[in-house]
Amino acid sequence: MTVLTRLPETAMPLPADIRGFTLSPSAQSPRLIQLTVSREVVEAFLDAVAEWPVQALEYKSMLRFRVAKILDDLCDNTLQPVLINTLVDRATGGFQVVPEGLDRVEQAEEMVKFATAVAHLMGRSNFDAMSSQYFARFVVKNVDESDSYLRQPHRVMELHNDGTFVEQDTDYVLMMKIDEQHMEGGNSLLLHLDDWEGLEYFYHHPLARRAMRWTAPPSKNVARDVFHAIFDVDRGGRPIMSYIDQFVQPKDFEEGNWLTDLSESLEESPATLSVPNPVGSFLLINNHFWLHGRDRFTPHPKLRRELMRQRGYFTHAKTLRNPRQC
Ligand SMILES: [Fe+2]
Repeated sequence: MTVLTRLPETAMPLPADIRGFTLSPSAQSPRLIQLTVSREVVEAFLDAVAEWPVQALEYKSMLRFRVAKILDDLCDNTLQPVLINTLVDRATGGFQVVPEGLDRVEQAEEMVKFATAVAHLMGRSNFDAMSSQYFARFVVKNVDESDSYLRQPHRVMELHNDGTFVEQDTDYVLMMKIDEQHMEGGNSLLLHLDDWEGLEYFYHHPLARRAMRWTAPPSKNVARDVFHAIFDVDRGGRPIMSYIDQFVQPKDFEEGNWLTDLSESLEESPATLSVPNPVGSFLLINNHFWLHGRDRFTPHPKLRRELMRQRGYFTHAKTLRNPRQC
């Protein structure tokens, strides 16, 4: 089912017909679109890129765009315009991508290739300081000794935007499930800014545009603090957000309490979506008007979950008024 016909403006002409994949509203919200790539296309793609291990994509950035082209060609070039336009469409701006037949941890390398292809049809993934690659794979286990909530299973990871403490634009976030063992709970949490009841109040507050200090814990390998306000506007004058509770450093009583109010408002929002993301599937969202987090898990001694993420900037359509990369 095509759900994109009402886009008000598009960066690229939309195909009259799509090939090799289907689109439908997700079970959680019409804002989150399920994009299912057919088994035939997935298999043909993996065959066509078999000569390049993931290491080749790591070493030669250009190949990330070549695998993207191969995937789009297999879809008769109907995939790229859908990705470009949807990710900047304020009404939606988010996908759950389901590659048929790519659903076992043994296919982890193939999963990275497939996700790379999708990302590089509309963007370029940034250097990830945690892994020193353009993507990061990380494991969540029952016990964790890290210095942030990223890998701690038994508690909620609060709603946030990515890229709050880096200097590159972080237009999109891609979150893929590579493995999952003995998991109960732990759904992805998503909140579209326009569905948040607190938006009006917090966006119009005087502190909304005050530059605040953002600093990362040591594991993030980011040395310098950055300064920016939580709210800004996009190219169309609509609110966008860059916020994470763990890394903002309020300078005084007023900021600290306002931030705590904002955090509580986000966490209590009934508009938050709880999205199960099966192995091999990934969420791909506009990071400026979708917040993301993770629900708590039930402890289990053999619990294992492996995730892959890519964050990057848009190379075609834009959300930011003054993007750093063009
Ligand atoms: Fe995140």
